[in-house]
Amino acid sequence: MKQVTIKDKTFSISISSDQIQKRIAEIAVQITKDLKDRNPIFISVLKGAFLFSADLLKKVDMDCEISFMRVSSYSGTQSTGNIKSLIGLSEDITGRTVVLLEDIVDTGETVVYLLNELKKNNPAEIKIASLLLKPKALKHDLKIDYVGFEVPNDFLVGYGLDYDGLGRNLEDIYKIVE
Ligand code: IMP
Ligand code: MG
Repeated sequence: MKQVTIKDKTFSISISSDQIQKRIAEIAVQITKDLKDRNPIFISVLKGAFLFSADLLKKVDMDCEISFMRVSSYSGTQSTGNIKSLIGLSEDITGRTVVLLEDIVDTGETVVYLLNELKKNNPAEIKIASLLLKPKALKHDLKIDYVGFEVPNDFLVGYGLDYDGLGRNLEDIYKIVE
């Protein structure tokens, strides 16, 4: 079994790069079908969603734009629930179809925070696409329109997800070994 060690923790492979790419291609087809002709603006939530956003956008087949926001809430292996906005949105999204791109929805605090921020600018609609969802950790009544994989409540690294800043560059997703 493929394993990696980051700092004091060991992780074993959970979702392979092939599985990730296959699922992203499926989501891209769905998004293209749903949003064709709406010229959506994708908003990638940094830092975690950078790889998901890049791979998804390459597969989406329509006119679209991309922008970025940066928030931070995690410290070590725990969500702090205390969200800080580090980079805000520079585009005018009034009347636009927005697709928020997240690496993972855990408690849902980050997405709720971002939805509230985005709604202040009166977009026509906001869709949410998250590569991963931890349904058992979700504390809010949120509809995630596009979900790559539902995962258990384990701490994950790789493919954008980090442990104290490390591991984002791994092409597979790994889960912590207890
Ligand atoms: P939420 O606000 O609790 O939904 O947390 C969302 C953010 O926490 C995500 O965008 C990730 O950056 C981070 N996060 C949640 N779960 C994990 C994990 O298992 N590994 C690494 N980062 C995570
Ligand atoms: Mg994130």
